[in-house]
Amino acid sequence: MNDKKLYFSLALVTLLLGFGAWLAMFFQWTATQPRIANSAVSNSSESVIGSGPLFNPPGLEEAPESIREQVMLGYKIMTETQKYAGEYVGNNLACTNCHFDGGRSKNTLSLVGVGAKYPAYRGRREYTADLALRTQGCFERSMNGKAPAPDSQIMQSLLVYYQWISKGVPIYSNPPWLGIPHDLGINSTPDVIAGKKIYEDVCARCHGNDGYGTPIAPPLWGDGSFNDGAGMNRVRTFSVFSWRFMPKSAPTLTKEEALNVTAYVHEQPRPKFIATHPNKIKRVIKLPVEASK
Ligand code: HEC
Ligand code: HEC
Repeated sequence: MNDKKLYFSLALVTLLLGFGAWLAMFFQWTATQPRIANSAVSNSSESVIGSGPLFNPPGLEEAPESIREQVMLGYKIMTETQKYAGEYVGNNLACTNCHFDGGRSKNTLSLVGVGAKYPAYRGRREYTADLALRTQGCFERSMNGKAPAPDSQIMQSLLVYYQWISKGVPIYSNPPWLGIPHDLGINSTPDVIAGKKIYEDVCARCHGNDGYGTPIAPPLWGDGSFNDGAGMNRVRTFSVFSWRFMPKSAPTLTKEEALNVTAYVHEQPRPKFIATHPNKIKRVIKLPVEASK
């Protein structure tokens, strides 16, 4: 082997080793940056990798004939809310803007499995929250509108829809993809100025320079947005949502950036929440003392 060939092979080996190390680092990095839980995380020592409920919502067309029409209508209400439930909507949003693909996606505020999560008894407050109550809350707050009555066609269809997309999720199994954790888990003071820059650099191209939305993305503030009583108006919800899911389909924010952009959005104007309907049972009528023993 002459010198030239030797140098060449050495260079090649170095290059390959470098690339290998980079690959390993890359995968380790991505592995430590999960934006949503993929499988059930359990503190129990019996937990087995891959255990826990599976994310596997059935197709809408597969619904049994007896409920198929309601399931399809429920999906349309979620995705074309203005068209199918317009009189209950007071802004420019649709349910699917936050619950992507009508909640059937995992990379969103998913609704797959809500049928197994509710009714939920809220021990401290002593009442049972069910899906009709939760849905009314989203109409009044997230949609800045009015609560459809439990016996309305809208509510009836949505309830059947939730149940169908929850098929196969065992009750009380606590699917890890549902809900929003308490916070981003970082200790940093939100910086509104830095957040404004992130908004302009990252979000504005879809949500608009003025935040009022564009044909490709819904508004983040202003009259067309959710009101100040909405879950999304909470710093933790908005920041976790943005960190996990924004920009849509290709999330890139660091946790600090998510917190900063949230602080900026939080300072912008939005509609005020006016309660038209109690969002919980005010008082549970107790059993007679004798019977409750
Ligand atoms: C602006 C975003 C947004 C929009 C629009 C929205 N929601 Fe929600 N929704 C949320 C948030 C955030 C939560 C979590 C609620 C909380 O704890 O505050 C939620 C929770 C829910 C839940 C309970 C889910 C669970 O895991 O407990 C249901 C059901 C629901 N929404 C239905 C709807 C329906 C139906 C619509 C349309 C009429 C809608 N949502 C529109 C943000 C939104
Ligand atoms: C590539 C375009 C794009 C970019 C960039 C983007 N979004 Fe979105 N965003 C969307 C779309 C589209 C939806 C609605 C999704 C749907 O209906 O399926 C959405 C929905 C949202 C929602 C829930 C609905 C609402 O309007 O309240 C929030 C909150 C949000 N985005 C925040 C952000 C933030 C913060 C940034 C910047 C860090 C950002 N987005 C960047 C496309 C984008």
